[in-house]
Amino acid sequence: MPVEIHRIQRDKRKHLDLLLLADEQEEMIERYLDRGALFLLTERGSRRAAAVVTQESGTVCELKNLSVEPKFQRRGYGRALVGWLAGHYRDRFETMQVGTGEAPSTLAFYQSCGFSPSHRIPGFFTIHYDHPIVEDGVLLADMVVLSMPLKAAPIVTFREEFL
Ligand SMILES: CC(C)(COP(=O)(O)OP(=O)(O)OC[C@H]1O[C@@H](n2cnc3c(N)ncnc32)[C@H](O)[C@@H]1OP(=O)(O)O)[C@@H](O)C(=O)NCCC(=O)NCCS
Repeated sequence: MPVEIHRIQRDKRKHLDLLLLADEQEEMIERYLDRGALFLLTERGSRRAAAVVTQESGTVCELKNLSVEPKFQRRGYGRALVGWLAGHYRDRFETMQVGTGEAPSTLAFYQSCGFSPSHRIPGFFTIHYDHPIVEDGVLLADMVVLSMPLKAAPIVTFREEFL
């Protein structure tokens, strides 16, 4: 199988270029990168997607960042990585959550992965970012939090490697 998952423990910042696609303010990435688990999905050794997952409580983990290489978007890598993560974490947490802006394409993506809208954090993007964030032509203001129960998540098998 040419697709592999790598858990990156050293030199996480080597992948900042990719992580900045999903979260364009480096200072915000710094809030979760060290405490989060960083995963890369590669295909035939080439990087395709990255994700960072944090523990938020005893029962909840959060997908803090999900980024797919621009040339490889819309080819199933994002959904494949979310699917793998859900299976990977299903015995450790009850719920995976993700917070995002109100861009319809991103909400459609997460809902296609099995997340459902849970609640919103008013003004998150205007309060915490030092410049306006526009995604798909939408000026982001509130954070929409979506969640997915992990109990029934299928296990997705890719070759795994710890770096
Ligand atoms: C958003 C992102 C993670 C999605 O990953 P991806 O690999 O491109 O998406 P997938 O091919 O796995 O898409 C799965 C499904 O999600 C939905 N979807 C994905 N992108 C979409 C878009 N732009 N508009 C509408 N629906 C979309 C579709 O239902 C799609 O299935 P389909 O292609 O069979 O119709 C990726 O495009 C990305 O990294 N974008 C830039 C960074 C970003 O916005 N990250 C998320 C912000 S928190």
